This record gives sequence, structure tokens and C-alpha cells, in this order.
Amino acid sequence: MGKLQGKVAVITGGASGIGAATARLFVAEGAKVVLVDLNEAKGQAFEQELKAQGADALFIPANITSEDEVAAIFEQTIEAFGKVDVVFNNAGIGRVHPSHELDYAEWRNTVNVDLDGVFLVARESIREMLKAGGGTIVNTASMYGWVGSPGSAAYNAAKGGVVNLTRSLALEYAEQNIRVNALCPGFIDTPIIPEESKQALAAVTPMKRLGQADEMAKAVLFLASDDSSYMTGNSLIVDGGYTAQ
Ligand SMILES: NC(=O)c1ccc[n+]([C@@H]2O[C@H](COP(=O)([O-])OP(=O)(O)OC[C@H]3O[C@@H](n4cnc5c(N)ncnc54)[C@H](O)[C@@H]3O)[C@@H](O)[C@H]2O)c1
Repeated sequence: MGKLQGKVAVITGGASGIGAATARLFVAEGAKVVLVDLNEAKGQAFEQELKAQGADALFIPANITSEDEVAAIFEQTIEAFGKVDVVFNNAGIGRVHPSHELDYAEWRNTVNVDLDGVFLVARESIREMLKAGGGTIVNTASMYGWVGSPGSAAYNAAKGGVVNLTRSLALEYAEQNIRVNALCPGFIDTPIIPEESKQALAAVTPMKRLGQADEMAKAVLFLASDDSSYMTGNSLIVDGGYTAQ
């Protein structure tokens, strides 16, 4: 039996990269998956691909920065599958920009998606999980929630926020059987990393390579399933050794 047999999992940023790899693994472990993404073309194509393999999959186009759209994700999930057991709160954006040249609008947009959006999805998840008597939430932060780096002030501030949001929500709902943990990836080979940066990022990583999205998916499965039943408020760093330096 799969580790998520019969579970319903909502995955934001589910059309690409870490979210898509996690959707594949969750399906293999018996879950029904709801893919949420801004990118409709990719989301629809991926939904079709999973359905063709016999999976229960639903794509919902939505922007996680919209309170109404986030509420609708959960309404549609309940309508389609009757419940929400797992939420992989993973959609995010990131750009490199020297801080003295960073427009306030760009700062706001990054924090809006990477922190506010994560809060909105977590809040709606918790509302459903309180009704159902529990669940698990995995927020995607970053190793940059733990260490700084030049040129990513807004991203790093937002990801640091996600690490402590995770602790705070974990404490608030521990007695209600809702576990909240974070995944903190290092440099992972997904479309968020520009092609021209990949070699340099691999070179500054102790393991001398980028991580793969399916290596993140395995960590997410651990945090989302009963394998981590005594963990909450934790941030799991999976970074090829980067933050050990
Ligand atoms: N790849 C890395 O090196 C790395 C490292 C650390 C953390 N992360 C984090 O992992 C998460 C997933 O990133 P990825 O590497 O898979 O990148 P990705 O670009 O492949 O996937 C991110 C997905 O999120 C979606 N998205 C962006 N903004 C959205 C919004 N407002 N509403 C709904 N969907 C939205 C995008 O359309 C995209 O499909 C992000 O939170 C990212 O910050 C990635």
C-alpha cells in the first residue's frame, strides 16, 4: 500500500519543477492530486498526462496571492474529492537583483507570492483541516531561509519568513493534529534557475551538482506522510551540503 493511499493532496506550483515531481511521486504512493498553478497550459497538459496514467488528478488555475482564488481552490477540491489531507504549499518566484536597484514594486511582488501567498494557502488549508480533524502541510521555503546571499534580498526575506511562519503555525495547531513543516531546497535543476547560472551554482555546492526535483519530492513525501508523524515546526534542508559550509 502506498504511503499516501486514499489521501487527497493539493500541490501549489504543481505544473512545474519540484511541485510536478512531487505530484508524480504522490500519485505513485496512492494519492489523488490537485495541481494548482498560474500556468494554465502546463497545468492542463500535466493533468492530462497524469489522468492518462490512471491517476485521479485535477488542475485548478489560480494565483495564490488572491484570497478569493485560494478559497476557490479548496471549494473545488472538496467538490471533486471530498476532503484535503495534505497540502504542499510550494508555488514561488525568485529573481536576482542588486538591492540598491530593486524597485519597491518588485520587492512587494516577491514577498506577496513567496510569503503572503504561502500564508493564504496555509490559512485555507488549516480551515479545512480543522473541520476534518487533522492533516499535514509542507511549505516550500529555501536554504535561503537560513543563510543570506547577495542580490536576493526580497526572496531571502520571504523564505526566512516561511521558516518562522512554519514554526508558528505548527505550534498553533499541534494539538489539532495538523502538522506543519517546511522543505528548504538548495539549488535544484528546475525552470526557476536560469540555464546560464547552473554550472556556477553546481560549482559552489559541496556535492558539485544541482539537486533534482525528484530528490525534493522524496523529502516532501517524508514530511507529508506518517513517516514523519512526530515532526512538526521543522525545516528540512536538502541542499547537497551547501549550508554545512
Ligand atoms: N529550484 C530551486 O533551486 C529552488 C531552491 C529553493 C527553493 N525553491 C522553491 O521551490 C518552489 C518551487 O520552485 P521550482 O524550483 O519548482 O520552480 P518552477 O518555476 O519550476 O515552479 C514554480 C511554479 O509556481 C508557479 N507559480 C508562481 N507564482 C505563482 C502564483 N502566484 N500562483 C500560483 N502559481 C504560481 C509557477 O507558474 C511555476 O509553475 C518555489 O517556492 C521556489 O522558491 C526552489
